Amino acid sequence: MNLAGRIEDELDRLRAEDRFRELPGIGGRSGRFIHSGGRRLLNLSSNDYLGIGDDRSFLKSYLDTGDETSGRYAMTSSSSRLLTGNHEQYGEIEEILASWYQRQGALVFNSGYHANTGILPALSGRHDLILSDRLNHASIIDGCRIAEAPFRRYRHLDYDHLESLLKEAADSARQVFIVTESVFSMDGDCADLDRLCELRDRYGAFLIVDEAHGAGTFGQTGQGLCEASGCTGSIDMIVGTFGKAFASVGAYGIMDDLFRDYLVNTMRPFIFTTALPPVVLGWSRRALEKQMSMDSQRRHLQSLAERLRRALAAEGFAVQGESQIVPVIMGSNDKALLAAVRLQQEGFFVMAVRPPTVPENTARIRISLRADLSWDDISRIPEILKA
Ligand SMILES: Cc1ncc(COP(=O)(O)O)c(C=O)c1O
Repeated sequence: MNLAGRIEDELDRLRAEDRFRELPGIGGRSGRFIHSGGRRLLNLSSNDYLGIGDDRSFLKSYLDTGDETSGRYAMTSSSSRLLTGNHEQYGEIEEILASWYQRQGALVFNSGYHANTGILPALSGRHDLILSDRLNHASIIDGCRIAEAPFRRYRHLDYDHLESLLKEAADSARQVFIVTESVFSMDGDCADLDRLCELRDRYGAFLIVDEAHGAGTFGQTGQGLCEASGCTGSIDMIVGTFGKAFASVGAYGIMDDLFRDYLVNTMRPFIFTTALPPVVLGWSRRALEKQMSMDSQRRHLQSLAERLRRALAAEGFAVQGESQIVPVIMGSNDKALLAAVRLQQEGFFVMAVRPPTVPENTARIRISLRADLSWDDISRIPEILKA
């Protein structure tokens, strides 16, 4: 069979299994609403958890101060950071990040995907071992696949399993890396960072924590679950993203200078890509600084999520998690699709998440809350789903 025929078959199979994906048409956004299919829907599918990205006056205040002649609002950096792309705004934001986390160094990347596919392949070699939570994000899995080091997955949040793998590796691996998300993107549950630090210490491992969904939503100043758990200073490398609660694009790593220097010299998705444009770096810095004082919004967000989880559980739904991400597990793909369509008909922009993004038979709708919502906005969801 030729290439086109094989691909046609594969697409037919995806359609038959309700797994065929199409790009949704998004018309625009206004505050917590999104325009899709000619309708205005409450946006429960974005990662703009604090609503900063949809805060028009905040955006206007950034653009109004713009002076195009300074180069600080340039729309492109035109080359890699190691050539002419390392605009002074990189240094500024990295200094802010390092002193905020009270750590030696910070390094900004183009995205969380770049960070996760670059860090482990740079740091590890074939004599090492990577231990990764089974439900880690695809970008972490891809980083594990690219790395020369072998990798094994421990059962989700099962630290006894992790410990047994650490014991097994004690005499054979040169260095073990443990990698986890803090707040899991599709499950909304949280890693036990204290326990992970304890295991890291006991077995001399190197701990990498991806705070993509924890930064901005946990911790008094929004550093993430590491701040909420009081272990910011002891995680070997923290990865955060600007594309979620920080309402921009890009990512950062928090680490000791030794590792920063090494990544600058060896990390391929850092070296071989065009740097972020100055206009984005300036905006990231603004949003980062703004969110530091949004603790009351963070607390509102988490209590809203807790209330929704309780209301869904009271209607008999399998809800899990302990964060602003509220997944409702429907099981089959068609059920999850139907639930999403039903909620969309009722004015809620909620989408179905299906395999391979989540494990087989755990298709779900993923409700992603934001701090600019009130209980009245979402209180009908459990009864709609029940119906
Ligand atoms: C846990 C996690 N890490 C990394 C990423 C990738 O980040 P980015 O969207 O900045 O590429 C995502 C989301 O997309 C994520 O959910």
